[in-house]
Amino acid sequence: MAWDILALDFGRGRDTSAGRARPARIVLLALVVALLPLRATAFPLGGDQTVLPAGTEFSEEALARPRELFHSEAMGGRKSYLVNLGDLAFNSPSILGGKARQAEMSCGTCHVNGASNPKLFVPGASSRPGTFDTTSLIFNARTFNSILDPVRIPSLRGARYLAPYGHDGRITSLRDFVYNVIVNEFSGPKPSDQVLDGLVAYINDIDFLPNPKLAPGGRLGTQASVEERRGEQLFFKPFPKQAELSCAGCHGPAGTFNDQFRHDVGSGGLVKTPTLLNANFNAPYFHDGRYDSYEQVVEHFDRVFDLDLSAQDTQDLVAYLNAVGDGERPFDKDGVVLRMKEVLELSSVLEVAIAAADTTVVSLAVTGVGAELRELTEHIPDIRNMTVGGKDERLAARAILKDLVLTLRRIDLEVAAGHIDEAMAEYRKFAQLVNFDVPVALKKAEPWSLFNSNVHQSHYTALGRMLPVTSRQSQ
Ligand code: HEC
Ligand code: HEC
Repeated sequence: MAWDILALDFGRGRDTSAGRARPARIVLLALVVALLPLRATAFPLGGDQTVLPAGTEFSEEALARPRELFHSEAMGGRKSYLVNLGDLAFNSPSILGGKARQAEMSCGTCHVNGASNPKLFVPGASSRPGTFDTTSLIFNARTFNSILDPVRIPSLRGARYLAPYGHDGRITSLRDFVYNVIVNEFSGPKPSDQVLDGLVAYINDIDFLPNPKLAPGGRLGTQASVEERRGEQLFFKPFPKQAELSCAGCHGPAGTFNDQFRHDVGSGGLVKTPTLLNANFNAPYFHDGRYDSYEQVVEHFDRVFDLDLSAQDTQDLVAYLNAVGDGERPFDKDGVVLRMKEVLELSSVLEVAIAAADTTVVSLAVTGVGAELRELTEHIPDIRNMTVGGKDERLAARAILKDLVLTLRRIDLEVAAGHIDEAMAEYRKFAQLVNFDVPVALKKAEPWSLFNSNVHQSHYTALGRMLPVTSRQSQ
């Protein structure tokens, strides 16, 4: 059996961190230097990164991950089987086709944890970071429209309030939109009803992050500043030249700061009104990502609708937008706790799928959770060199992760052979490990892993400095 799934492959993440270089500490540099030779020997089984244009950036190495909040959990319940299945599919390159799959791209590459990805850049398909042309030649020749017309990658938080879908609201049903993304935009195989139901349930369960600055009804709470209050008044005020219009008329605070209609606001045709909730994390702004800041957006409306705003008015509106667009604890620190929670949730679909002898879902879960475990393993260096600390802890953590992957594979084989009881017994073993032994082992190894920001930074800094550009891009 090939050990590809556990191949240590530190070079795989696209490295663009040269600009973030800071002096590395000597001990850490030693670790990094020790890591480098592995890059050359690592076999690229995690996905062929050369299928996308040189200079492609997914920003997968970021240590801060957008926080993902689920409606079902916020209501005090648990995510359903279908939501977990959708989460799994959302993060599985295998549901997409051709190049996306080869490059290990999934829905989650662009919509990270259901939010956006302001750093994603694919030369030839992006005009600026955070945008992407869904009708470019790269992923499907059939939808290629011969023009570079990238649009901003939207956040899917609160997606159940954001129909019709697409910046131009071209598709009313979320299910139809998702089907189109898979089959047409990314040349994937026709998804099963179950997978499609799962994706829709998952996307519909992604909530806005709560915003303590807003009272029920979307009005500012009592703690709001004078500036924010003045901004709120302007937001409701009819436009001087077109009294039927106001900011609030389209971005209704009583709802989710959008009206589910399309308007021409002088940005190039009919565009659906975006929500302003959690929008502080959604830059670049407008459908094509043309603006970096709220100032620029307000200046746009001022210019197009002749609002005659004073400098103070602009500042007040911006302060108000910042208050409305906020969200509680917007990022989670990446680390073993977060990763193990994901493994636990995603693997939970196995319990139902094994009992139902559902080989398709079992395979999806085994592949998806296996990839997650491989990534986790990649974060824990396999250096036997005595000068690098935490050797025993690191090797123990890697060993137990390997054990997990083997258990997963046995589950897949047993289900495929129709041995449901045996598969279930393996699953119990897996769940036991994931719940008890694995978190302990990983916690011990974490200080020596790439989840430690010092180790992380030195690693990427050194890669940026020491490798010639061509070798970096060809990995
Ligand atoms: C390469 C980046 C990329 C990938 C991969 C990707 N998307 Fe998107 N997604 C986008 C962009 C860009 C848009 C905006 C399209 C538009 O406005 O026409 C979008 C829009 C959406 C929307 C509409 C949101 C709204 O408010 O209108 C949904 C839903 C969505 N994507 C789900 C998915 C799902 C599900 C997958 C995987 C099957 C996926 N996306 C994969 C970039 C991506
Ligand atoms: C006629 C309806 C309408 C009115 C009035 C309106 N907006 Fe908008 N707003 C839109 C639409 C449509 C877009 C998207 C434009 C695009 O993507 O090209 C938008 C985009 C925005 C964005 C960018 C959000 C993002 O995620 O890209 C902000 C911020 C915003 N509006 C704030 C305001 C403010 C402040 C006012 C009042 C000065 C206002 N809007 C008035 C419809 C409206």
